[in-house]
Amino acid sequence: MSSNRIETVVSDIVDSVRHVLMRHDVTFDEYRAGVMYLVETAKAGEIPLLVDVFFNSTISDIENAVFGGTEGTIEGPYYLPDAPIIPNGGEVLTYEDDRNVPMIVRGTVRDLEGKPIAGAVVDIWHSTPDGYYGGIHNDIPADFYRGKVLTDAEGQYLVRSTLPVAYKIPDQGPTGALLVKMGRHSWRPAHVHFKVRADGFHTLTTQSYFEGGEYVDDDCCTGVRNSQIKGDVREDGAKVIENDFQLAPAAAARRAA
Ligand SMILES: [Fe+2]
Repeated sequence: MSSNRIETVVSDIVDSVRHVLMRHDVTFDEYRAGVMYLVETAKAGEIPLLVDVFFNSTISDIENAVFGGTEGTIEGPYYLPDAPIIPNGGEVLTYEDDRNVPMIVRGTVRDLEGKPIAGAVVDIWHSTPDGYYGGIHNDIPADFYRGKVLTDAEGQYLVRSTLPVAYKIPDQGPTGALLVKMGRHSWRPAHVHFKVRADGFHTLTTQSYFEGGEYVDDDCCTGVRNSQIKGDVREDGAKVIENDFQLAPAAAARRAA
């Protein structure tokens, strides 16, 4: 970010905050309480969480407008770059006793002209049936419920797993306390995360949701995008997530114009 851009963006943020303070006649005590809240949030290591809850989805919207292609949304804090490679058509590692509904995630990766992209990396991760993430929570192995699959010559991929569930973002610290004070909650709807990469293309980060699922209409992180809500498709007892992706060129269309 150039120093002029920093000056421009920060000045606008300051002006916006001043406008809000004026509009609501914020008192000195409220102002000081707000400052101390930020101090406590920093002490708890929750600045990234707090900021992501309110603003990450806006950055995704900006990227969507700048690049085009399949609609992206928030990455969330549980992405791990070193997920295992899964053979196309294979299964991610799951709990040995996981009896949750089987899930098939499949689709085709194409460019903006509709041409299939072979060898694209589709990186998939999602929660366990109890709402946790491999490599993050409860000593669950890092290669559980996550994996990378490469598209075939037709740009197609398929991975098998089991259904994720809705889960709460960390809610025992200052971020959760603020959401409660605002009359909100800390739940995210069940979802599958994707990061799709191919040489020469903008990396797409997105999530799929389940039509009618709890919190789809009330995501605490406002990450749900209508284009990524999937209908109830079943095959042989498995829930199918059909997700075709269109990747935009690496050069941003809007900024390049
Ligand atoms: Fe997630």
